[in-house]
This record gives sequence, structure tokens and C-alpha cells, in this order.
Amino acid sequence: MSMHLYEMSSRLIGETVGKVPENLTSVVLAACLITLFLGYVSKLLLSQSWDKDAKFPPYIPSSVPFLGHAISFGKSPIEFLENAYAKYGPVFSFTMAGSTFTYLLGSEAATLMFNSKNEDLNAEDVYSRLTTPVFGKGVAYDVPNPVFLEQKKMLKTGLNIARFKEHVKIIEAETIQYFQRWGDGGERNLFEALSELIILTASSCLHGKEIRSMLDERVAQLYADLDGGFSHAAWLLPGWLPLPSFRKRDRAHTEIKNIFFKVIQKRRRSGEKVDDILQTLIDATYKDGKPLSDNEIAGMLIGLLLAGQHTSSTTSAWMGFFLARDRALQERCYAEQKAVCGEDLPPLNLDQLKDLSLLERCLKETLRLRPPIMTMMRMARSPQTVAGYTIPVGHQVCVSPTVNHRLCDTWEQRMEFKPDRYLNDNPAAGEKFAYVPFGAGRHRCIGENFAYVQIKTIWSTLLRMYDFELVDGYFPTINYTTMIHTPHNPVIRYKRRRQ
Ligand code: HEM
Repeated sequence: MSMHLYEMSSRLIGETVGKVPENLTSVVLAACLITLFLGYVSKLLLSQSWDKDAKFPPYIPSSVPFLGHAISFGKSPIEFLENAYAKYGPVFSFTMAGSTFTYLLGSEAATLMFNSKNEDLNAEDVYSRLTTPVFGKGVAYDVPNPVFLEQKKMLKTGLNIARFKEHVKIIEAETIQYFQRWGDGGERNLFEALSELIILTASSCLHGKEIRSMLDERVAQLYADLDGGFSHAAWLLPGWLPLPSFRKRDRAHTEIKNIFFKVIQKRRRSGEKVDDILQTLIDATYKDGKPLSDNEIAGMLIGLLLAGQHTSSTTSAWMGFFLARDRALQERCYAEQKAVCGEDLPPLNLDQLKDLSLLERCLKETLRLRPPIMTMMRMARSPQTVAGYTIPVGHQVCVSPTVNHRLCDTWEQRMEFKPDRYLNDNPAAGEKFAYVPFGAGRHRCIGENFAYVQIKTIWSTLLRMYDFELVDGYFPTINYTTMIHTPHNPVIRYKRRRQ
């Protein structure tokens, strides 16, 4: 549900405006430059009022005015942060496109973010401009955090064990059906396939039968247009700009909401009590007894789908490549299924899924090395003290799971994919925030259990169907240009398994 970094660079602005007619291009360019410039100037003015005695975090200087480190960070954010950690320690600041970012690296420094109050380190200030046009008004970062916390609680009630039991069956069936098109063997884009599959499984499980049955190509395109709202352009540029992608996003938002409204109203009228998340939301009330409006329910349904979409599809794809690279590990996972479920591999169930502990460790290790949310961010609304430094108001305070998950002082053989590390006493176990793929504190993810059920079911089913290997030994490099770090050229080789 959160998003991460925005590679602020002239290249990006150029890309964005390059898609609109020329006269509009200059308007857009002028508008965004003015906006960014005003932000920059106001930051400078704000900096004048800082407490003169305060010791600020070490600042990484840059000779490039305004853009600062945007380009080097954008090219390779993890390398940038690791180098800065080695040179400056766990807390440091730098500027990108007029904004100052302060990173808190390592478990101890991250404590500041995870234990903070939303009034001090605020999530809405950084996320809302991206999420509100997509999810809509009245939910998530568009409402005061206590309201969002109540909404999260309602969603969590809907994500329960009884439902997960049904979800395993649904996901297994969807996976078998989807992968029929892959035939007996070949080379295909794994990430693309998993992204398509995960919209289907998430819609079935999180939206219910009525909405899933409407998911045809047209609706899939609407989701894609809506999802296009999670872009660097939306992050950087004012929402009122007449960019084609913004218009598509807004149109898709209205159309999807209209579809959901019809389903919600039909369900309300029928009086039928279906056991699914939609029903949980229809029946839910806030602490003051007020029920959710149709608009809030529709926004929460959009949020549920999109929060898990990129996170789960990217994680599933990376997991596939880790398994394809280590064929012995893949075989161990397959053997584990036979040992847990039986030689004839009957349909999966939740109890068996839980017992697939090697597969679970593979997922855990994938989330360590490729956590989809690379950075969590908050806006400092009040001065914050950490490690003897004062972080001033206006800094964007960040924690990076990716960096925490591979710090050399914490993790042994840190870059190795070693699922069995969790069987032993691992050094990170003593550090509360050394492993945080789902965040922590008041903004912690509510989708972790569902994500585990979904990804484990998909991979259990796929390992029953196919043997996977890398294409000519190519393990995908990381595509840093997408907001979630996806695999580059994610083609995998597969062959039907003889049972
Ligand atoms: C592999 C899958 C997933 C990963 C790695 C993941 C990761 C995260 C992270 C890191 C956060 C914290 C963001 C922050 O502190 O700024 C978060 C929050 C959240 N996630 Fe997930 N997520 C995943 C799947 C899901 C799914 C499937 C759902 C819904 C069904 C979901 C719903 C949410 C919600 C509602 C929040 C709360 C945001 C807040 O309170 O500010 N996530 N997730």
C-alpha cells in the first residue's frame, strides 16, 4: 500500500512530458518546474528557522543544485544507500529534487520510524497524492490515521483462517486454469504471467464471486489504467495536470467504482449473507456504530486488490527465479510436497500448506533479498531525535527493508539465497527491525498472511506442474526504473513434470 522511491531526474520529467502534444509539453514542464522550485524555496526558507544548536544528521553533499543525488540514487538506490551507510553510519541526509531525505538504516535507527506516532512522522503527507486518486476519497491516506486504523481492522477481520481455507482451493484452481496456456514446455515471461494470475486470484479471494465473474479483458484494462496511477509522474507532478495517464486513471477509477457500487447495492438488497470479505465490509461498523458507505467499501476493495498486486506478483516472480537457479532446492520443495501431501499429490489444503516449511522459508528468503517495498517513508512534522541527531521538520524520513535485510553486520553470507538460514540461530533474530518486508508499527501490513497463502499456493501448484530452469543461466537483473523493483527480462524455461 505504500510506494517507494521516485527517481527524480530530468530524464523522468522528459519521459513523462514526451507523451503529450508539444504545446502541452511546455505547459506541463513549466508547471512542474514551478511547483518543484516553489517547494525548494519553501524548504530553504524553512531551514532558516532551524534550531541553531541542533546537531543534524550528516549531510551528503552534492555539486548538482536542486536535483542533488537524484540521478545516482535513481540508477542504483541500494548501492547508493550502502555506500552512504559505510561512510556516514546509520543516519544521514541528502537532497533529491529539492526534498531532503533522511534514511534510518539498521534495526536500531529504524526504531524511530516504527515506534513513532503518525502525528510526528506522517504517512499521509508522502503517500496520499499517489494513493488518493487511485483508491478514492474517504479511505487509506485520505482520512485521519485513526480512521484508517479502524478500516484496517475491518479488513483484517475479513482475512481470517476460515476464508484462507477457501482461498487455497480458489487459488489452486485459478493457477491450474491460467497455466494451461503454457502447454508442456517452453520459455515464457514469468512475471507477466504471475501478474495476470494474481489479479484473478486476488479478485476471487478479496472481492468475491460477483466481481470476479465480471473480470474480463475490459475490466482488466481498467485495473491496468488505474494502476498506471502509481507512477513516478503521479508522484512528482501536480494531480491537476492534464496528462493522458492521469485522465485514464481517473476514468478507470470512476468506472471501477460504478461496477463495485452495483455489486454492493445488489448484495445489500438481496439480504443474502455470503461468507466473504465484501460481506464483512457491508456488515462492518466504526467504533461509533456508523457503517461503511458504499464509497468507502469500493475504495477499500480497490486498495485490497492493488496493495497486494505488485508486491505479490514481484515476490512470486523473484521466488521462481531463485528456485529455477537452484534446481536442487526446487527438487527439495517438490519432495516436501510429496512428503506432506502424499505421493499422489491430492488438491492442496491450508493445513498442508502450513506444513510446507521449506517452501515457506524460500518465500521468507525471497522477501529478504527482494522485498518489494524498498523504502517506507514518512514526513517529519515535528523535530525527531535519533542517534544523537535532530531530524528537522520537513525531512522525508525513510527506512529501507532492502538495506536492513542485507547489512553485513547483521546477516551472514548476506547476499546468498539460503532459506535454511532460518533453521539456525541467525544473528538478525535479536534485532527487532532487521527483517521488515511487511513493515512494523502502526502502518504494518495487514496482508502478510494472505500473501503467504497466495504465493505458497501458486508455487506449490506450479512445482507440481513444471520443472523450472534459468534460460541459458540468466538470472534477472533488477529493474530500478519501476516503483517496485521488478526482474529485468523475466523469461523462464519450463518443462512439464512427469509425476
Ligand atoms: C508480498 C506481499 C506484500 C508485501 C511485501 C507488503 C508490504 C507492506 C509494507 C512494507 C507495508 C508498510 C508500509 C509503510 O509502513 O509505509 C504494508 C502496508 C500495508 N499493506 Fe502490504 N504488503 C504485501 C501484501 C499486501 C496485501 C496482499 C494486502 C491486502 C490484502 C496489503 C495491504 C496493506 C495495508 C492495508 C497496509 C497498511 C498501510 C498503512 O497502514 O499505512 N499488503 N505492506
